[in-house]
Amino acid sequence: MGAETIKRIGILTGGGDCPGLNAVIRAVAKSAMNGGLEVIGIADGYLGLIENRLQPLGWRDVSNILTLGGTILGSCNKANPSRYAVREGDRWVYHDVRDQVVEHYHQAKLDALVVIGGDGTMSGAHTLTDRGVKIIGVPKTIDNDLWGTDVTFGHDTAVATATDALDKIHTTAASHHRVMVVELMGRYAGWLALHAGLASGADVILIPEIPFDLEKVARRCIERRDVGKGFTIIAAGEGAMPVGGEAIVDHVVEDSPDPIRLGGVAKYVADRIEQMTDLDSRAIVLGHVQRGGTPTAFDRILATMFGHHAFELLEAGQFGRLVVQREGRFDSVELAEVADKVRTVPPDCPALQAARAVGTSFGD
Ligand code: F6P
Repeated sequence: MGAETIKRIGILTGGGDCPGLNAVIRAVAKSAMNGGLEVIGIADGYLGLIENRLQPLGWRDVSNILTLGGTILGSCNKANPSRYAVREGDRWVYHDVRDQVVEHYHQAKLDALVVIGGDGTMSGAHTLTDRGVKIIGVPKTIDNDLWGTDVTFGHDTAVATATDALDKIHTTAASHHRVMVVELMGRYAGWLALHAGLASGADVILIPEIPFDLEKVARRCIERRDVGKGFTIIAAGEGAMPVGGEAIVDHVVEDSPDPIRLGGVAKYVADRIEQMTDLDSRAIVLGHVQRGGTPTAFDRILATMFGHHAFELLEAGQFGRLVVQREGRFDSVELAEVADKVRTVPPDCPALQAARAVGTSFGD
């Protein structure tokens, strides 16, 4: 099916918000409208398709949003069409509501959907392609952990935000001769901690892919003190874990398809370092500040190019695919290939090797 038979498309943003979502919405909508297509905005990710909350997007709606953080459409990281949680009494019951979604899709006379999201959103998309919905995915996440693409939009902005925070923490660390353990997001992948740690010159970087030995982390802090560097900055990914241990869970969101929320590793490490050494330590959790703010120039360009490439796939009638960037080139992969996978930091990652080369400890 080519663009000549695609007359009306829907756009949704799913999962956690992230800088650059609006830039993609703008790029897809403007490319589509310039190609003579009608564009429908779907509110709050798949939830809007489940609850039938759709409305037309026009030129005015998508103007002046390139630099805006968040998403003008709203998002939701709970509504998975094939496993939608409904509260029944004191428990959650899971329903497959894909028929309802497909019905609303046809009611709105949509010919295709562009879904902008991370792994949860792409797994949801994959289950809808099985029902004949024509979908193109665009890879979003500050975590950079989507399988099939070298980069997701939003990550660069989150790295810049986290780097700025780590730079600012340096002054207190140095003035008070402290160990500062800064917890960064990223779930089960260490990209955000690795990249922000590298950019800010963190002395220790802890990532889920490399379990850490607390003795070695403490030794690095003492070694630094002994050579006259009275402070240590530790960038810890929220999924980092000690050797033989597990990632620390902060809480469980029962009605979410991905219910585990990580958190607490910074406090764990800071407390242990205080117990094992005579060094004053503090834990800082950056949290959702990493998802906010205006996208960097890099993310605006990437988001616009991803959005344009999504439109090119629509035109070519290539559905059930995720737009990706590999080795600097735009391409696409099948959603089936991406669903339910996580891209973690490989041992031969050049950024990891560069960090080791300049003396950064990974606690291993
Ligand atoms: O996937 C993006 C992300 O910000 C993760 O880095 C983090 O673990 C999670 O979402 C937090 O989710 P929530 O906004 O539901 O607390």
